[in-house]
Parts: sequence; structure tokens; C-alpha cells
Amino acid sequence: MSSEQSSMPRHIGIIMDGNGRWAAKNGLPRSAGHARGAEVFRTICRYCEKIGIEALTVYAFSTENWSRSADEVSAIMNILRRYLRDAFNQEGETIRVRFIGRRDRLDSDILSLMQEIEDVSRDNPGLILNIAVDYGGRDEIVRAAKEAAEMVADGRITADEIDEELIDSLTFTSCCPPLDLLLRPSGEERISNFMLWQCAYAEFVYMDTLWPDFTPEHLDRAIEEFRSRNRRFGGR
Ligand code: IPE
Ligand code: IPE
Ligand code: MG
Repeated sequence: MSSEQSSMPRHIGIIMDGNGRWAAKNGLPRSAGHARGAEVFRTICRYCEKIGIEALTVYAFSTENWSRSADEVSAIMNILRRYLRDAFNQEGETIRVRFIGRRDRLDSDILSLMQEIEDVSRDNPGLILNIAVDYGGRDEIVRAAKEAAEMVADGRITADEIDEELIDSLTFTSCCPPLDLLLRPSGEERISNFMLWQCAYAEFVYMDTLWPDFTPEHLDRAIEEFRSRNRRFGGR
């Protein structure tokens, strides 16, 4: 390791994008791209756990993704169902799984599965895995603002006490280290409403690889890139 390299990222965010293009490239239906993407997700989670990443937040379904065709939305929801049933209930599981996002628009069986997984994994000592489903960064900020307003209305705090620390404590990721690295495969270079608050000083790494083709080696490369950056946080 060169002396100029900075430390490993503690918290990585991934926008798992490119499933549809991968499917088209392989002459398959979009749902096959999502299914393959779910497999890659599993591999990458395990890899992050193995290399000692503290927190991983993955974008699985955005507040805007409801605007896709009913067929595609239901295919994604079915993959989620299947996946949630068997992905994280192995004997000796160490990953702590959390779901972030809205909970008022998902089917009740999916909500129960999420709740179940969160409950059984709550005290696991390993990687904190946040799976963003029906998640939007703007929605998260609005939610925090509403909660702060209610605290003021209830007299628990004064308006003056609303500060960055308070808003941060009202985000979904308050239990995690700050977001260090935001990774987007698929060639798109935009944030698409992901972790807007948390991105303040995250390092962005974009890669051309489509998510279903993504491997632990790609993650290693992104981490290397991260470690070569000079993070200044507004200082000199
Ligand atoms: C990401 O892949 C998965 C979701 C948004 C649910 P896409 O479905 O966006 O794939 P592309 O961007 O069309 O290739
Ligand atoms: C972002 O990807 C959402 C997820 C990967 C879950 P999109 O494919 O929805 O984003 P845009 O439409 O390219 O901005
Ligand atoms: Mg996309």
C-alpha cells in the first residue's frame, strides 16, 4: 500500500443499474436481467462482508420505478419475494439486514418478509446491509423534516434545535458510518434520487459494466480508485 493511499471505505452505496440493458444484450426479457442482478447482489454482499466493509447500502427499487410497466414492477416484486425468502436466513448468518424507503406502497406479504428478516438479523455482528426498496432521497429528507416539525409541535425541541446532527439522526442511515463511496455501474453518471443527504462528501465512482456483469474484482477496482482520491472535506 502506498503511503498516499487513504483507508478503506467504511460505508459503500451501490446503484445497481443496467439489468434491462444486460437482458437486451443477451436477448432475454428484462425480468431475467433483474433475476441475474439479484444473484450478483448476493455475491457482492458476501464479498463486502468478507473484506470487512461496515455498511453497504444498495438501491434496489426507487420511488420513481413504479412508473415502469405493471409487468416489470411485478416481476421485480416477485424476485424480491423469492429472494427475501431464502437469501438471509441461513444458519450462522452474520449480516444485519435493514430495509430503507417507504413502507406504505408495498404488498403486505413483502412487508412482513422484510420485517421478519430485520427482526431475526437485528443483533447480527457483521456487515450492516441497507436494502433500499421504494426509496427516494428526497422522500427521506421530507420524512426527516416532517419528523422534526412534529418534534417542535410536541414541544420536544425548539425550532432552533433543528440542526444537521438532528436531521442526520432522522435519516434511514443514522446507525451507519458516513457514506464514503458511491458506486454506479451501467455507464450512467447520475444520482437518480439515491442518498442525497448522505452523498455530501461521498466519493463517486462510475463504471461502464452493467450490474449483472459486476464482480468482486470490479468492487476491488472501485475501492482502489476510492483509496487513491484525496478527500478534503472542504479543507485544504
Ligand atoms: C436497475 O436496472 C434495476 C432497477 C431499476 C429496478 P434497470 O432496470 O434500470 O436497467 P437499465 O437501466 O434499463 O439497463
Ligand atoms: C436507479 O436506476 C434505481 C435503481 C437502480 C434501483 P434507474 O434506472 O431507475 O435510474 P434512471 O432512470 O436511469 O435515472
Ligand atoms: Mg436503469
